Amino acid sequence: MHIPDIIIAIDGYSSTGKSSFARLIASEFSFLYLDSGAMYRGVTLLAVEQGLIDSDNIVDIPALRSALLSFDLHFSSTPDGSKTFIGDRCIEKEIRTMEISGKVSPIAAVPCVREFVDMRLREFGKKKRVVMDGRDIGTTVFPDAELKIFMTADLEVRARRRAAEMIAKGDDVSLESVMANLRERDYIDSHRETSPLSKAADALVLDNSRMTLQDQMEWIREVIREKFGNVSD
Ligand code: DC
Repeated sequence: MHIPDIIIAIDGYSSTGKSSFARLIASEFSFLYLDSGAMYRGVTLLAVEQGLIDSDNIVDIPALRSALLSFDLHFSSTPDGSKTFIGDRCIEKEIRTMEISGKVSPIAAVPCVREFVDMRLREFGKKKRVVMDGRDIGTTVFPDAELKIFMTADLEVRARRRAAEMIAKGDDVSLESVMANLRERDYIDSHRETSPLSKAADALVLDNSRMTLQDQMEWIREVIREKFGNVSD
């Protein structure tokens, strides 16, 4: 299916499968996929490595603001797809640990961090044909995105998927700890002052608790046919 030059914004709760869905959309429609959460995770890694966030998740905001001035965080394509880098160091694996997951929401709530990330994300949107997932893509980063999707799923379904993913990667995690982390992140992400997670008024809700990825692809093809009419197959 060939679709017009648009931006597809996918927002929603943690571990609703936004990135798997977005990756598949990108590959089917030849779009660029961007994982905005990876940028927040990259900034969190910086904060952890430089001791700018303590064990109570209190952030040294002035020091973080100045560290961001020379922080070379970017995406680069590799033979395995696009990955997150600091300079020439690939940080894709380090940013997915439970330690980073436990600290990313307080970091993502800091306004100068959001400015830093938003500026980079908007650069990518200039050429359109981008699918981006996150928490505020349809509300703040690209409020004019032509297609906005808000993803949700039952907490337990999400925790099971996430725990299975982490165990498959060799991480020793319990379902309870993953559920607690998701519950906490949902709360912080939805209640922060700057760009909280919320559904854009014109976003379509996709509850995938009982859907496979293929079901979701069927759903989006139908949405695109309805919204953009004469797309060619
Ligand atoms: O999608 P993810 O779980 O990798 O995102 C990690 C964290 O980053 C998430 O808890 C909230 C934050 N985030 C955000 O605040 N805004 C975005 N656009 C993307 C992620």
